[in-house]
Amino acid sequence: MAAEIIDGKKVSADIKAELAAEVTELKAKGIEPCLAVVLVGEDPASQVYVRNKEEACDLVGIKSIKHTLPVSTGQEELLSLVNQLNDDLSVNGILVQLPLPKHIDEHAVLLAIDPAKDVDGFHPINVGGLMIGEAPFQPCTPSGMIELLKRYNVEMTGAKAVVIGRSNIVGKPVAMLLLHNNATVEICHSKTRDLAGETRQADILIAAIGRPKFVTADMVKPGAAVIDVGVNRTEAGLCGDVDFESVKEVAGAITPVPGGVGPMTIAMLMRNSVAAARQQAGI
Ligand code: GUN
Repeated sequence: MAAEIIDGKKVSADIKAELAAEVTELKAKGIEPCLAVVLVGEDPASQVYVRNKEEACDLVGIKSIKHTLPVSTGQEELLSLVNQLNDDLSVNGILVQLPLPKHIDEHAVLLAIDPAKDVDGFHPINVGGLMIGEAPFQPCTPSGMIELLKRYNVEMTGAKAVVIGRSNIVGKPVAMLLLHNNATVEICHSKTRDLAGETRQADILIAAIGRPKFVTADMVKPGAAVIDVGVNRTEAGLCGDVDFESVKEVAGAITPVPGGVGPMTIAMLMRNSVAAARQQAGI
């Protein structure tokens, strides 16, 4: 039997509708959530992401402020904008779109963002909070994946979860969130011996490698839930890290690309932005 297709677009729309109702209530109390997005340079993919974020803000009722800076912007100039946004009481969330131009120290910029406004969850304070289960903001892509598993009733407690990929923004944090949800978690990577042997044991398989169609049907346990984080632009168009056509015949549930994890990242950003407004208003 072919896998159930996990519809991230629909779940994202549901969450945005839930948040829109919440924002209406907050506005009645005089609280207007506001997200500042900073884009440096003209990377086409980043421009699309930023536009999608602005559209989501409009839909949910969050005020969005966009700061577009030229690629030549110096680090001090960017840091001074971040500091200005930190100090601006009308701004609840700050997102600096990554990647930044090579001459800017990304770590220094993420470190400069007030952790209370860090809706990406990338500040080391919030990364540490994630480890101990006390982060005010969970990183958006990992929390979006967990939300999909929950809404599709994929049992995490006691399940064996295998994450392929160990990046700071996806692999490591999603492993931690799976652990908090009582899964038995393994992180695999390019140096893992017998990768297919490991992935074949997974009840939940997370593909966050960055290589098109890397996960093939023979690497998947029959009935497993397969979550594909890959966004690979190939000559044949957009594809994930999972060979969707073959894997969907083996898996129990699977996310497509596009329309799986991608829309969830934005929904979770909206959720974090509303949470930031609540936290700063003390409600
Ligand atoms: N670039 C790609 N994904 C992201 C994200 O989730 N947040 C930020 N700030 N930049 C990104």
